[in-house]
Amino acid sequence: MSTVQKRDKLIKQWIKEAAESIELAKEESLKVEEKSARNDLVTNMDKEIEEELTNKIRAEFPEDRICGEEGFGDDLKDLKGTVWFVDPIDGTLNYVLQQENFAVMVGVYEDGVGVQGYIYDVCKDKLYHAIKGMGVYCNGQPVKSPENKSLSAGLVATNSQLMTQDQFAEYRKIAGKSMGVRMLGSAGLEIIELLKGNVIAYMASKLSPWDIAPGKVMIEEVGFKVSQFDGSEVDLLNRNKTIFSTVKAFDEIVTANSK
Ligand code: IPD
Ligand code: CA
Ligand code: CA
Ligand code: CA
Repeated sequence: MSTVQKRDKLIKQWIKEAAESIELAKEESLKVEEKSARNDLVTNMDKEIEEELTNKIRAEFPEDRICGEEGFGDDLKDLKGTVWFVDPIDGTLNYVLQQENFAVMVGVYEDGVGVQGYIYDVCKDKLYHAIKGMGVYCNGQPVKSPENKSLSAGLVATNSQLMTQDQFAEYRKIAGKSMGVRMLGSAGLEIIELLKGNVIAYMASKLSPWDIAPGKVMIEEVGFKVSQFDGSEVDLLNRNKTIFSTVKAFDEIVTANSK
């Protein structure tokens, strides 16, 4: 079995185990803490799942390094070698306030190149994954490649930070050219919407490496684009204003952003 196959088998197993812990925790009361702001939350489950995943990765792949949201990973200064990106619960606010619309996400990169990406929509029991060069799958079934639609032909998704804090004026111009705007509150689930052809772009402010890395593998696998707002490569060591989009919409968005 190749390393990629071994990782694939284990990641799927570990993600399902994380979802079982989330299911069991339904019976207990969540411990919720504020991080940087009153709407930037972390729960005991975010921490527990990241700790479990990082322990499992380290036990099986001791040479690899980990970039995780809740602090159980390594302090990365570069992306050399094999780097795992772990977002234990993507959409923590949804998890706390809605008890749905959140995902467990894992990405694996080799020397900065995305090799494997996993996004598990826990409540819908849908595990999306991609291995570079092998297509995108949902629960083991191939996902049909989404249509390369233009900005004017589809819906665009965004995130709360972009709407409430940053660059909303610029975003409005772009969104105004589309058919309309949608927002789910989980970067991973927005990326799945793009993969399904339900939106033609997801434009989001202040995304962290663990928000971007798993979905980037999938979006690039279907030939779509991932970049910063100005069209430059995303930086997986920092936060990014990020566009995920069809090729046609990408050109229109980047041109509009550069004006
Ligand atoms: C957040 C979600 C949200 C996005 C934020 C992310 P978290 O991740 O993906 O949709 O707008 O920028 O930080 O903190 O819930 O894992
Ligand atoms: Ca996240
Ligand atoms: Ca998270
Ligand atoms: Ca968070």
